[in-house]
Amino acid sequence: MVKKNAGIIGIGAYLPDKILTNADLEKIVDTSDEWIVSRSGIRKRHVADANEATSDLAAHAALKAIQDAQLNPSDIDMVIVATITPDMMLPSTATRVQRKIKVTNACAFDIVAACSGFVYGLTIAKNFILNGTMKNVVVIGAEILTRYVDWNDRTTCVLFGDGAGAVVVSTVNTGRGLLGFHLGADGNTPMKWLMLPGSGSFNGSVSVAENRKNVITMDGKAIFKFGVSILPDIINRALERSHLTVNDIRLIIPHQANIRIIEAAAKRLGVGMNKFYVNLDQRANTSAASIPIAMFDARNEGKLQNGDAIVLGGFGGGLTWASIALVL
Ligand code: ACO
Repeated sequence: MVKKNAGIIGIGAYLPDKILTNADLEKIVDTSDEWIVSRSGIRKRHVADANEATSDLAAHAALKAIQDAQLNPSDIDMVIVATITPDMMLPSTATRVQRKIKVTNACAFDIVAACSGFVYGLTIAKNFILNGTMKNVVVIGAEILTRYVDWNDRTTCVLFGDGAGAVVVSTVNTGRGLLGFHLGADGNTPMKWLMLPGSGSFNGSVSVAENRKNVITMDGKAIFKFGVSILPDIINRALERSHLTVNDIRLIIPHQANIRIIEAAAKRLGVGMNKFYVNLDQRANTSAASIPIAMFDARNEGKLQNGDAIVLGGFGGGLTWASIALVL
């Protein structure tokens, strides 16, 4: 009997039309293109239209991934949406997507693991495919972060953007597919390092002014240090668990938070920046959406092809982290 694995058979993404450049931000807060580019690498970001919800972005990306996989929505039996900016608390964004793309016979749920959420979702899909209970799982990362930034706070509003990316995970022949992964979380880190209280049941162990509940607040330096130390570590762990070395890898696709975090990871791993895919200059930080959007962009630019071995690495609020190696 031919052994089988779980692997990605379709990729899609959706970016809203509106683009906000650093020059546009100069008119909103006391900042400069030079500061934003030198400190973060970001040049522009996409911004969702007022009448778009996260599920709209997610639905566009999911449909493209399903078409790319040469499947129909009716073939999908599980919809996973990773997001920290859901349409609402109830119902889940995944059920809204299910309705919008007419996936009639499926279970659907959201996961909240911030910028690690998409990779968490891939590992869930992998296990359901491998144990034979699901055939085709669509895993989506989707965010409208610009709706949750304080446009008076120059330390955060310049960093984030909107978008969605999606993949279809199905059965593939061995030699391809999702390999070793590493997931982690540390809830002991201070919440104020990165949080968005929103309308959650939060009972106030960290004081939050009423007007700051619906915006992302962050200790940029603490998150920066975390990113610099965790990114090379999780890449190595996914490689070890896949019995691969960095030389076997065509491309590393990290969470797109800050070019300096990626450069530091490259240095620690002893590899050139050409091993890393970067699109944060064009997309900014789209949290759970950043890795699948980067996969879509990398493939469109010819930097990612079927048969390539790659590593994905995400890290973010929680704190959480997640990595996985795979052969496309
Ligand atoms: N424009 C101009 N000046 C600014 C801006 C801005 N947009 N923002 C901050 N400054 C100023 C500060 O006020 C400070 O001025 P001061 O020295 O007079 O006090 C100065 O620039 C330096 O600020 P720092 O915070 O020290 O700048 P730093 O080099 O640390 O860069 C940054 C800040 C870009 C936020 C960096 O810390 C970072 O990228 N951190 C990680 C952020 C991140 O990855 N977050 C998300 C991960 S999780 C997720 O994706 C949901």
